Amino acid sequence: MVIRCATEQDLPRIAEMTRDLTVHMGAYTWAVDKHLKHVRRRFENSRYIHIVAELDHSIIGFTGVELKTKRTAYMLKGYVEPSCRRTGVMRAMEKRLTEILRELGISKLDLLVDSGNREGRSTWVALGYQSVRETMRKEL
Ligand SMILES: CC(C)(COP(=O)(O)OP(=O)(O)OC[C@H]1O[C@@H](n2cnc3c(N)ncnc32)[C@H](O)[C@@H]1OP(=O)(O)O)[C@@H](O)C(=O)NCCC(=O)NCCS
Repeated sequence: MVIRCATEQDLPRIAEMTRDLTVHMGAYTWAVDKHLKHVRRRFENSRYIHIVAELDHSIIGFTGVELKTKRTAYMLKGYVEPSCRRTGVMRAMEKRLTEILRELGISKLDLLVDSGNREGRSTWVALGYQSVRETMRKEL
């Protein structure tokens, strides 16, 4: 498996996986083309860093960060192909990302995870993230 920064050629595949992620989350689903516009806009913005995992010349996972301040960054949602999960793909992508961030002087990485997303939550806990605040909601 190769973990590397995304290139422009990877953007359609990232858009496809972003669509799969929204389907998985039960969120409102856009067409891949619409995701691609957003992915491209972020990719062209130097505040964003995108990482992909490649296996046998196929992109099997992606994640990324948005640089917020000189010291803080925000982790974007990540996704790993269902057939490749629990093989350490996200662990490897997160490791590469944090190496890049440390080199940039970033000392805090925040992320949001839905409280019902058990695999997401378990992953971030396993990778060393701790809850620092909780979002509460009342359905009206
Ligand atoms: C969450 C997700 C990105 C994890 O990717 P992954 O490559 O399977 O994760 P890894 O294999 O690197 O797992 C690292 C550790 O996280 C924990 N973990 C990962 N998936 C888990 C699960 N389903 N249940 C419990 N623990 C889990 C484990 O401790 C694991 O280490 P181990 O396998 O040695 O026990 C992947 O399941 C996914 O794409 N899910 C759908 C999208 C999503 O929920 N994204 C997160 C949005 S915040």
